[in-house]
Amino acid sequence: MAYALITGGSKGIGKAIAESLAAKKYNILLVARSENLLKENATELEKKFGVKADFFVADISANDSAKKIAEWCNSKNYDVSVLVNNAGYGLGGAFSSLSLDEQLNMMQLNMQSLVQLTYLMIPVLKKHQGKNYILNVASTAAHQAVPFLGVYGATKAFVLSFSRAIHHELKPENISVSCLCPGPTDTYFMDRAGMKGMKKAMKQAERFNMTPEAVAETALKGLFAGKLEIIPGGSNKAGAFLSRILPKKLVENTLIGVYKA
Ligand SMILES: NC(=O)c1ccc[n+]([C@@H]2O[C@H](COP(=O)([O-])OP(=O)(O)OC[C@H]3O[C@@H](n4cnc5c(N)ncnc54)[C@H](OP(=O)(O)O)[C@@H]3O)[C@@H](O)[C@H]2O)c1
Repeated sequence: MAYALITGGSKGIGKAIAESLAAKKYNILLVARSENLLKENATELEKKFGVKADFFVADISANDSAKKIAEWCNSKNYDVSVLVNNAGYGLGGAFSSLSLDEQLNMMQLNMQSLVQLTYLMIPVLKKHQGKNYILNVASTAAHQAVPFLGVYGATKAFVLSFSRAIHHELKPENISVSCLCPGPTDTYFMDRAGMKGMKKAMKQAERFNMTPEAVAETALKGLFAGKLEIIPGGSNKAGAFLSRILPKKLVENTLIGVYKA
């Protein structure tokens, strides 16, 4: 049985995607920083689904992490056929009021590390006999500029654009690339992004929040159907459509109303 490697598999959407893949009888490789959670999740997956599960503890924003992860897969001879680039975080607030170092670290994790790991895992995926899959996790924030989530939104626009481009490039090589664009999902994301003080954004999230399990189910359906872009949930799909057809300034002004604390 082939392996699926999931970054950010300790909690939230990554943990739910790992569970859904294990339910489909994929062996699981989890990567994140929280060793205890990774150990717990791996044990649980083995018990519940009868698959093999291993984990690698890493701060993926560190420059050499992607290389170490690919080396780990090679040294253990893991037959990886699915790569899920899910680890990421947001930072809410005005650009000039947030720490520059933290914003640069977010850019490193959400973009550079994702590109590095994708690049270094392509030869690992190609060793697998049969079809291979890459799922990159962006966000509905990728569809327009988002004032007060400015750098985060831009990182996700990068992920979406990059994923769409390599979808076409890698198709002839039997690697199907999909980009997942979730909207508000009930995870640790808002806490980590420091968005608890954004009252209107919190209210919106409470209204439209999806469970990570529902997001994971839609994600895998789309991934294995070879979909280029996967937007879970009707309201998120409607939002993406409106962002495409409405004047940019109108969309941005609406978002100021949501995200300005
Ligand atoms: N929740 C939402 O509303 C939402 C909406 C759109 C898109 N997304 C995207 O969905 C993805 C998953 O987020 P989530 O909502 O599941 O948030 P979450 O509950 O905070 O989970 C984030 C995951 O990423 C891992 N991670 C964070 N920084 C890391 C680092 N430096 N090195 C390694 N792993 C790291 C975390 O593990 P450790 O802390 O153990 O390292 C955790 O497993 C992100 O890319 C996020 O941008 C989320």
